[in-house]
Amino acid sequence: MKKNIVLIGFMGVGKSTLGRRLAKRLGYKFIDTDSAIEEITGKTVEQIFRTDGEIRFRSEEKLLARKLAGQTGLVIATGGGMVLEQENVELLKQNGVLICLHADPQVILQRVKNKRRRPLLSKGNLLENIIRLTREREGAYDIAELTLDTGKLTYDEMLQEIKKFLE
Ligand code: S3P
Repeated sequence: MKKNIVLIGFMGVGKSTLGRRLAKRLGYKFIDTDSAIEEITGKTVEQIFRTDGEIRFRSEEKLLARKLAGQTGLVIATGGGMVLEQENVELLKQNGVLICLHADPQVILQRVKNKRRRPLLSKGNLLENIIRLTREREGAYDIAELTLDTGKLTYDEMLQEIKKFLE
């Protein structure tokens, strides 16, 4: 069975970029959970947060985690909040391997240009929000079997590391 590869970690660490490349290398299908939710609801992540609220977004994430738990051969780039919910972690782990991408706040700051999908960072000072939220979420991503520092490794190096890990 081709176990899913589930990329987890804070916003802006490069889950989607790496995920897309990894899927291509492995011949897996790529799923970005934020994009999937946008397709399902017909709204952008930002619109869902603004008009329906974060709770609605989190319930869409839960529905999607249930759906993905029944599939294999996927590389899944999760939204940064997906694994804050224990039920989602259990679902994604059923037939998936969790890999965490980590980056320091300064690196995240440089990468978080598209704020449309990151309403949790968009009010007030960006760096302060990143620091506050990373503190609040301290330890939340330690559930992964492998953690890679995306500020220190190139995408190619990360792909090598993951391939080695999967062997
Ligand atoms: C969120 C991360 C975002 C998106 C939403 C909430 C979070 O995804 O799901 O804005 O709570 O960390 P990315 O991690 O892809 O930015």
